[in-house]
Amino acid sequence: MEATPCDVVVSDMRMPEMDGATLLEAIREQHPDAFRIILSGYTELQASLRAVNVAHQFLLKPCDPESLRAAIGRSSDLGRVLDSRMLTSFVGSLRDLPPLPRVFTELKLALANPKTTIEQISKIVEQDVAVSAKLLQLVNSAFFGTFRNVTDIKSAVARLGTSVLQDLVLSVSIFRTFTANEYVSQEYVEDLHRHARFTARIAAGITGNSPSSAAAVLAALMHDIGKLVIADRLPAHLARVVAQAEEEGRPVYEVEESLTQISHAEVGAYLLSLWGLPSAIVDAVAHHHHPRRLSRNGIDMLIIVYAANMLALEREAFAKGIQPLELDMETLEEAGAAAHLEEWRAIAEAAMANTPQPVM
Ligand SMILES: [Fe+2]
Ligand SMILES: [Fe+2]
Repeated sequence: MEATPCDVVVSDMRMPEMDGATLLEAIREQHPDAFRIILSGYTELQASLRAVNVAHQFLLKPCDPESLRAAIGRSSDLGRVLDSRMLTSFVGSLRDLPPLPRVFTELKLALANPKTTIEQISKIVEQDVAVSAKLLQLVNSAFFGTFRNVTDIKSAVARLGTSVLQDLVLSVSIFRTFTANEYVSQEYVEDLHRHARFTARIAAGITGNSPSSAAAVLAALMHDIGKLVIADRLPAHLARVVAQAEEEGRPVYEVEESLTQISHAEVGAYLLSLWGLPSAIVDAVAHHHHPRRLSRNGIDMLIIVYAANMLALEREAFAKGIQPLELDMETLEEAGAAAHLEEWRAIAEAAMANTPQPVM
């Protein structure tokens, strides 16, 4: 690495002299900008879990070349999101972004094995007491409407199903990764969480039982995660942006773009792509303020996240007695979404009434 710096390191777990976890730890120390991937087999799973805190992504053997290519591609091909040099110069000061939360990675690996039982899954979740508590709180909240009085993780797992569980564990553990600091108040962080959940509820209402619903809800939950990253890594910048936005009565993303050409949308997408989330989710997060940037295939995930966010902001503006932002009707029209808008607005209104107290 010293002689020939590289952007991506894919390491085996079991190697002579030094194992993969130790190697990646050293790389994180000395070359924090490198993207770190562990490639591991089931038999060494227990040992590999040590790498969970240092690897951005975790690939299981046997790993087909396509998955490996996709994993590496995501780290170097962020030009898809925008001019990567610009992003790099901005997030250069965001060195060493956090890895995926450990409980999520463990869960994902366990779920990859069809023989994993509900008991085993529950045990993984229960190991993280804070995540378990938040999860139960969330399952019992209006977020899931019909589920009430779920008092143990095992029944929560059984009721939610594994894919929703994964999403929830991810969002709960992510929000815990980022906390308030001297520039960014706890209140601001909680507001972000509330807005994320509200947006996710609207997305859930819009997508109903469709197969893409879980992914759209996850994208909606994560759409502003870049704000958390910036709050954590560049708090003074964020404080300045928020103050200026308030003073000028402009949306935060516009002020961000005018100052650095980059907003929380790209930063969030960058983190999610490092974590290997599906590209539809990364794209939806990257462009959630500019749905026009991508060509349309009907009502896709980006349109859903865009509309859910705008309708959430609209309700929040009404609640504060201020003028909401205008929706990009032309883009909604092109996507065939304009006809649904009133129905979606009603979903947002109902979701607002039911939005529970902050739980994440
Ligand atoms: Fe946003
Ligand atoms: Fe938002």
